[in-house]
Amino acid sequence: MKYMGSKNRHAKEILSIVLKDRKPDQYYVEPFCGGCNLIDKVSGNRIANDIHFYLIEMFKALQNGWQPPDNISEKEWYDIKDNKDKYDSWLVGFVGFGCSFSGKWFGGYARGNQNNGLPRNYCSESKRNVLAQVQGLRGIEFFNKNYWELEIPHNSIVYCDPPYENTTKYKDSFDHKNIGIGLGLLQEVVVRFIVRNMSRQTILLVCGQKRLTIH
Ligand SMILES: C[S@@+](CC[C@H](N)C(=O)[O-])C[C@H]1O[C@@H](n2cnc3c(N)ncnc32)[C@H](O)[C@@H]1O
Repeated sequence: MKYMGSKNRHAKEILSIVLKDRKPDQYYVEPFCGGCNLIDKVSGNRIANDIHFYLIEMFKALQNGWQPPDNISEKEWYDIKDNKDKYDSWLVGFVGFGCSFSGKWFGGYARGNQNNGLPRNYCSESKRNVLAQVQGLRGIEFFNKNYWELEIPHNSIVYCDPPYENTTKYKDSFDHKNIGIGLGLLQEVVVRFIVRNMSRQTILLVCGQKRLTIH
C-alpha cells in the first residue's frame, strides 16, 4: 500500500537482518505497522499495531474479505472526509489514504493523468495494491493502540518504524524524545529499532547495542 514512510522498497534488506535468528513460533511484532509493507512479507506469528484507527479498521476488513470500491469521485471524497461517522470506518481508512494525494491522510483528492492524457483512477490503483497485500495479511493479529500500551508476547522480535522527525506530520504527532522511554517498556523482548535519517537518506538500524547503517 502506498503509505508515507513505506519501507516496501527496503523490505527485503531490512527483513533479512531483522528475521535472521527468528525461531519457529517466535512472534514478529510491529508497534508502528503503517501500510503493513513489511509485515505482509513475514510469515508465522505476527502482531501489527498502529495508532491510526481507520487504518487498522481497513486492514481488518481486508482480512475479512472486504472489497474496496473501484471509483471515488471528488464529491464523495469530500463527503467522506467531512462526515467520517456516516461511513464504514474501513471505507474511511481506504479513501483517506488510497484516494488522497501522495497517500497522505486526506491530504487532497488524488488526481492526475496517465501518459496517454487520460485521467488516472487512483482509487482502482489503490484497490489493486491493497488486494495484492491480502494474502500476506492472513493470520496477523491487529491492534489499534499507542505503542506503549501494546502487549507484546515474551521473546518477540519487535521491529519499530516510528514516524520520522522533520517530515510532514502524521495524524497524531509523535514524541521522539520519549520514544526511548516507551521502548524501555519493551525490556523483555528483542528490540530492533529503525529510524530513517531523511537528511542523509540512510536507514539507521539499531540491534540491541549494535548500530548498522543501510544505504
Ligand atoms: C513510518 S510509519 C510506518 C511505515 C510502515 N513501516 C510501512 O512500511 O508502511 C509510522 C507509523 O507510526 C504510527 N504511529 C505514530 N504514533 C504512534 C504511536 N504513538 N503508537 C503507535 N503507532 C504510532 C503512524 O500512524 C504511522 O503509521
